[in-house]
Amino acid sequence: MTDDTAGAADPLEHAPARVRLRFSPSDKEVRVPSGVTVFDAASWNGIAIDSTCGGHGTCKKCKVQVQVGDVPVQPMDARAFRQSELDQGWRLACLAAATTDLAVEVPPLTTRPKAATVGVGRQVILRPALQKRYVELAEPTLTDQRTDLERLLGAVDDLELRVDTAVVRDLGRTLRAADFKVTAVVVGDELIGVEPGDTSERVFGLAFDLGTTTVVANLLDVSTGTPAAVCSMLNQQQPFGADVISRISATMLDPTALERLRDLAHKTLNDLAAEACAEAGVDPSEVYEVALAGNATMVQLALGIDPEPLGVAPFILASSGYSGLTALDLGIHIHPQARASVFPALGAYVGGDIISGVLATGMDRDKRLRLFIDIGTNCEIVLGDGERLLATAAPAGPAFEAASIRCGMRAAPGAVEVVRIDDDGLRLQVIDDAVPAGLCGSGLVDAVSELVRVGLLDGSGRFVSEDAAAEVAPKVADRLTMVGDERVFLLASEEETGGNAVYLSQRDVRELQFAKAAISTGWRLLLEAFGVEEGDIQQVLLAGSFGTYLSPASAVRIGLVPKLPVLRIVSAGNVAGEGAKMVLLSAQEHHGAQTLLEEIAYLELSDRTDFNDRFVDELAFPT
Ligand code: FES
Repeated sequence: MTDDTAGAADPLEHAPARVRLRFSPSDKEVRVPSGVTVFDAASWNGIAIDSTCGGHGTCKKCKVQVQVGDVPVQPMDARAFRQSELDQGWRLACLAAATTDLAVEVPPLTTRPKAATVGVGRQVILRPALQKRYVELAEPTLTDQRTDLERLLGAVDDLELRVDTAVVRDLGRTLRAADFKVTAVVVGDELIGVEPGDTSERVFGLAFDLGTTTVVANLLDVSTGTPAAVCSMLNQQQPFGADVISRISATMLDPTALERLRDLAHKTLNDLAAEACAEAGVDPSEVYEVALAGNATMVQLALGIDPEPLGVAPFILASSGYSGLTALDLGIHIHPQARASVFPALGAYVGGDIISGVLATGMDRDKRLRLFIDIGTNCEIVLGDGERLLATAAPAGPAFEAASIRCGMRAAPGAVEVVRIDDDGLRLQVIDDAVPAGLCGSGLVDAVSELVRVGLLDGSGRFVSEDAAAEVAPKVADRLTMVGDERVFLLASEEETGGNAVYLSQRDVRELQFAKAAISTGWRLLLEAFGVEEGDIQQVLLAGSFGTYLSPASAVRIGLVPKLPVLRIVSAGNVAGEGAKMVLLSAQEHHGAQTLLEEIAYLELSDRTDFNDRFVDELAFPT
């Protein structure tokens, strides 16, 4: 093991796994994995920081003042600031790794940006399909008999526009009421609205990540690329089951379920749109375009399309993409003519959310060999080197969602998210510092990883005997006990919680082993198909709400991800949502999302005769 390999030399080992950042003047508080830069933490949470280099440490524009907490001075900081400024806490946000709680003052943007930073440090040149043109038209006369529409289109004749009759309906009234001074609203090659006066400064779009569990909305000022608001909520389809299979099953059992599921998706999206608009002080009628990324089942349900063929072999999509959609097709009440685009899907189990993530991470153009893993019930994996892209989907099961874990719970207050065993015994980090109530996905991985590390779990995943436990980990050996007829490791006893005990059972360990074996079999087969070795991988991107919070060291230790230096394993944040932002900001990126479908090859695992043997080989923990 090299110095920077996961294990004893993990530089984040003694840092808290998540840190809290408070940004002013927006007064937003966010929690991110320790080690994430202030720049990424801000951009993941919709807080704009100046940048022209996309967070690569070269433009010196991302100046922020760390008012509370400590961030070491980097060599580039010393070139960007005077000593007195450094003493006052000024740092370059993209180089400032947050390893403790911080309070950060973000200066207002100094320039009207021509590019925006989205995804994993991607710079997107602002060329949105959505644009506004303010025009002052000559009034008609007896000698100038052009129609109202000709008059308007003549003033924007560099664009060849299609016009829906719905737009013409109010045109005459709007032109006359506004003395023929109006703003044309255009999305791509369509005129979707005409507004009185000059409204060209007010142009917004909504990017959605429609997840099975959580739905996130980003309201963007499309003219500057800056985020106006970010909101999230649970997908209101939850009563139909936690995963896609239970929601597909619901539609097979009950003929009314599809309509109800569609309505719940619409309500979730519309509630979020309303919340984001209210937070940003934007009228919903000022939002003209929607981009949505979601897995294939979520997209089909939201469009009211029967998902049954997705759930049974041979797993067929209704369509890989959908054109001509409006926001109303998704139940979103914003501008009445607002357009909507939905990321295309590669297959039933590599959906638009993954295409969006690949776009946001630049997997199609980055020359490094990179592995993208979105961990969830269905785990999507993509390997790429800028030339080739190969994807697969591995059925990881519900372990990470904690549904099948005895004391499992969602990552909410009370969830144990970090587990450490050291000379003083057991240390837990609980979300919101609450009394432990259960174990979330990242806590599960951490707990198992620590128990393997100290020797309380052997390589096969079995708890060791009491004698062996007393020898290898005397401080915590008495936590290895029985609940009913099952051996468990007690994370918090009834006395410690004042209520129910929180523990990890032998069966929970098995569940995690199944999940991690499915995932590691998936990436190993991708590596083989690519003809590369584990050690060749230059970066592993952990995506999705679960992957983002996973401890890289723990993920390496249990063999969930390739055995690499932890610094090569990075949290990618909500990349599905970032890809959706990208297509709103750049028509070119929108086009890129479509062409990705042709560039990504798919490796099917379910029909491989060697899958089961390989899966069984992967069940053990690396020693
Ligand atoms: S974003 Fe350019 S230096 Fe930080």
